[in-house]
Amino acid sequence: MLTQEKNDILTRTGRGTPMGKLMRTFWTPAMTEAEIPAADEPPVRLELLGEKLVVFRDTDGRVGVLDQHCPHRGASLFFGRNEEGGIRCVYHGWKFGVDGKCLDMPTEAADSPMRCKVSALAYPARVAGGVLWVYLGEPDTAPPLPDFEFIGLPADHIYASRWEQDCNYAQAMEGEFDSAHVGFLHSLVNKTTDDDRALTGRFFRDDKAPSWKIVPTPSGLMACNGRRVEQDKRYWRLNQFLMPFYSMIPPHPNDARLVRMWVPMNDERCWVLCVTFRPDRALGDTELAGWRNGDSAHRKVIPGTTVPTERLDNDYLIDRTLQQTVSFTGIAGVRAQDAMVCETAGAIADRSREHLGTSDRAVVALRRMLIDAAVACAEGQRPPGPDMPHLYRVRATQTVLPEGMDPTESDELMNTARPDPTPTAA
Ligand code: FES
Ligand SMILES: [Fe+2]
Repeated sequence: MLTQEKNDILTRTGRGTPMGKLMRTFWTPAMTEAEIPAADEPPVRLELLGEKLVVFRDTDGRVGVLDQHCPHRGASLFFGRNEEGGIRCVYHGWKFGVDGKCLDMPTEAADSPMRCKVSALAYPARVAGGVLWVYLGEPDTAPPLPDFEFIGLPADHIYASRWEQDCNYAQAMEGEFDSAHVGFLHSLVNKTTDDDRALTGRFFRDDKAPSWKIVPTPSGLMACNGRRVEQDKRYWRLNQFLMPFYSMIPPHPNDARLVRMWVPMNDERCWVLCVTFRPDRALGDTELAGWRNGDSAHRKVIPGTTVPTERLDNDYLIDRTLQQTVSFTGIAGVRAQDAMVCETAGAIADRSREHLGTSDRAVVALRRMLIDAAVACAEGQRPPGPDMPHLYRVRATQTVLPEGMDPTESDELMNTARPDPTPTAA
């Protein structure tokens, strides 16, 4: 459990809160590259960490991320005209470039000094790895982007998607590290196959009380969870948490790798961005078609939106007959199943009423790390992650080890999971 005070530190991310300050030292993944409007197309709305923004590309293709409110008298720039190198507010025609500079102020005299003094609030933005990144901190302190493995890969090696989740970012992300749920929430009630893909599923089914080894890293933690698979063997999964809202879980053998990003939209809703990628080759048509349909790693959404098909306000389309005959939940899609349990705890879960067990060790470690970092940041300590991008070049992984062997003693696990000690050039 957490006290209300600590729950607030964990979950409140507005400007001026400890967690909001911490998060604003990092780049924030905001939307997929495919969602950014083309040059001169109308702007789109974006909410990040409680800040309402607009995103557009100017005539030269540069991306602008501006405060949604026009600096004149606050009308929304979402309704503005994106034309000839900037966005023009339709109230009085003031026009702003991607850097926020006022380009035109037609309601003032041509020689008025006012145009040079007024600017829109603009945030640095970059496009990399199929994702739009926005820096919401002080503009002159923007660090390098985190050096995730997928950044720099050819575009056809990467597939990114984004969807909305109706709860605070922290409880959504906690679900990813709560490995004990997998043997229940995502299980099938009529499972009979024993193929390779089902192999790890069988491990989850046969031992439902995993053991844990939590290993802190310089900007996150490795959450290792082990299940007994035979008399003298244990199947270990190593999940990665990276500050402040990234998770990696190991893929099925031969599946693409993935990074998930649990980004506050505001304190009661979050964005989930998922990047699946293959370092060694282009993605295949079959896996792309599956992901676009919300298969496994990605969530099914209403086409052209970020609104999930199975969601809170339609009871996730639960099918009680399927729940009796096919799946434990009767809800289609692993991601929808995860969302259901996280969202139904409330927009911001009341953690003072929980009863945590040994299976929740990774969740406890995650919360503690975030709360401690937020408090330290509020006291003036800058976290290491933003300035050490190479810490993000890690992988989630899995293996079977002899019973009793500590996962940190496995070269196979650690050589895959630990970051390259060589810092990348900023
Ligand atoms: S409110 Fe935007 S130009 Fe007046
Ligand atoms: Fe899950």
